Amino acid sequence: MLRASGRRLGAAVAPAVALVAGMLSSLVCCSLLGPSDPVASVLSPYFGTKTRYEDVNPRLVLDPEVTCTPVQLVALIRHGTRYPTAKQIRKLRQLHGLLQARGRGSAGGRDLGAALADWPLGYADWMDGQLVEKGRQDMRQLALRLASLFPALFSRENYGRLRLLTSSKHRCVDSGAAFLQGLWQHYHPGLPPPDVADMECGPPRINDKLMRFFDHCEKFLTEVERNATALYHVEAFKTGPEMQNILKKVAATLQVPVNDLNAGLNRFLLQSFSSLVMQRPFYHCFLSWATSKTRSP
Ligand SMILES: *[C@@H]1O[C@H](CO)[C@@H](O)[C@H](O)[C@H]1NC(C)=O
Repeated sequence: MLRASGRRLGAAVAPAVALVAGMLSSLVCCSLLGPSDPVASVLSPYFGTKTRYEDVNPRLVLDPEVTCTPVQLVALIRHGTRYPTAKQIRKLRQLHGLLQARGRGSAGGRDLGAALADWPLGYADWMDGQLVEKGRQDMRQLALRLASLFPALFSRENYGRLRLLTSSKHRCVDSGAAFLQGLWQHYHPGLPPPDVADMECGPPRINDKLMRFFDHCEKFLTEVERNATALYHVEAFKTGPEMQNILKKVAATLQVPVNDLNAGLNRFLLQSFSSLVMQRPFYHCFLSWATSKTRSP
């Protein structure tokens, strides 16, 4: 779970002590956001809060009240909307196969399982967790919002002092590049952004020791990740009666044997979403919804 939430990218603006500039003017951010998709906006609250900032937090489009004088900004930014990983795609196919293999619903009616079985699963192996165009847009808009909220820090003279650190994951590196391209738009409206390598502040620097500490920090690995005692409650939750109840309900709704859902598939959800104990079809819908224009039945 830590892994799922830990792939991040940090953007830091170096201390700007000289910039005890005047009060921040609160700019209108509405213009930074594209027209929102009404279907997506209605569904948003039911999905995770990851990355779809403008959908889950409508306050973003309001004028913020900023009364202090910022001298430095350190942001820990998650990568933008991405495709499922190869492992997730494999499990989605497994689920899809399970739904297609089961008989038609009782009374020959069109039930939810049948609708999901007919729904094309459009993921290819190459997609393996890569950033989608929506994810690039997330990052560009985030950069524009930050630059508008902190005009003194993001002044043209400070551009060369911006430092971006990222993990080596392609989606994070790509998110960093999109963030810088968003800033470029802020400084040079209308001009196409150059390659990030040619930008003044340089490309995002890869630092896995910092950004993927969960792979490198010996203390974390021995005391937490490989320690069954420390993770006792996680296991208890995954195998507990509440989870079994949910699986039973999902199995009943989809009309598949609960054991088929249990076979390796249940861990899939838990690993991916600790906050939402969701059904697999829900996950299927969520990913399709997040990464493409496809809407679930
Ligand atoms: C494992 O976790 C438990 C509970 O948090 C802790 O008391 C114990 O010291 C940990 N073991 C190791 C080897 O770090």
